[in-house]
Amino acid sequence: MTAPVEIHGLTYAFGEGELRRPVLRDIALALQPGEIVLLTGPSGSGKTTLLTLIGALRAMQEGSCRVLGQELMGAGEAQRVALRRRIGFIFQQHNLLGYLTARQNVAMALELHPGLTEAGRLERATAMLEAVGLGDRGDSRPAQLSGGQRQRVAVARALAGDPGLILADEPTAALDRQSGGEVVRLLRDLARRRGVAILLVTHDPRILDLADRIISMEDGRIVPTKQAGAVPAL
Ligand SMILES: Nc1ncnc2c1ncn2[C@@H]1O[C@H](COP(=O)(O)OP(=O)(O)OP(=O)(O)O)[C@@H](O)[C@H]1O
Ligand SMILES: [Mg+2]
Repeated sequence: MTAPVEIHGLTYAFGEGELRRPVLRDIALALQPGEIVLLTGPSGSGKTTLLTLIGALRAMQEGSCRVLGQELMGAGEAQRVALRRRIGFIFQQHNLLGYLTARQNVAMALELHPGLTEAGRLERATAMLEAVGLGDRGDSRPAQLSGGQRQRVAVARALAGDPGLILADEPTAALDRQSGGEVVRLLRDLARRRGVAILLVTHDPRILDLADRIISMEDGRIVPTKQAGAVPAL
C-alpha cells in the first residue's frame, strides 16, 4: 500500500509583496496506512495551515504534497473538491448542524456518495453511531448531547464515508480529560481496523500516549520531538 500522505519541500506563505510572511518552511512528512500521528507545537507554528493544505482546503504554493495518490501541487479546484470527499475531517468545534439529529448529521456526510439511497445513508449512519457507542442517541440533536458525545458523532461522521485519511484539528480541546481520551482512543481503534491513517493536531499532553508517532512544529518547520523525561544532551 502506498503512503496516504507524502510531502516534500512544502513551503507556504500568507500575504503578498512586502507583507508576504512564510508560515511553513521546507516541510517533509510521510504517513503510513493505519498509523496515528500527533502534530504538536506552539500556537502560530503552522499546524492548522499544514492540515488545511493536506486536506486540499487551500491551494499549494511550493513543493510536493501527494494525498491518497493525488498530487496537490498544481491541482485545480475540481480535483481538490474530489479529494476532500475522500478525507474525514474533525475539528475542535464539532461542526454538527444543530437542527439535524445525530443520525442525520452523520448521514449528511454520505450525501455525495454515489449509489446510496436516503434510506441506505440513514442505515449506514445508524451503524456508525453504534460503532461509536451512540446507537441509542441517533434521534438526539447536538444540543441534547454532552461535549464528548458530540465529538463521537463527529468521529462517526468523519468515518462514515470510508475515507482514506482522517485529519483532526484539536478534537479534544473542548473536552475533559476522560472524554478527550475516549474520543481519540475510539477514533484510533476504528481507523486502525480500516487501515486509515490519522493526522491529529493537539496541544493536549493527555492524549500523546495514544500516538504511534509524535511530530513537533516550531516556526513553520518540523523539529525533533523532545521526549518526555529524556536526558538533555550536555
Ligand atoms: N488566513 C491567514 N492569513 C494570514 N495569516 C494567517 C492566516 N492563517 C494563519 N495565519 C498565520 O500563519 C501562522 C500559522 O498559523 P496556524 O493557524 O497554522 O498556526 P497553529 O500552529 O495552528 O496555531 P494554534 O496552535 O494557535 O492553532 C500564524 O502566524 C498565523 O497568524
Ligand atoms: Mg491551529
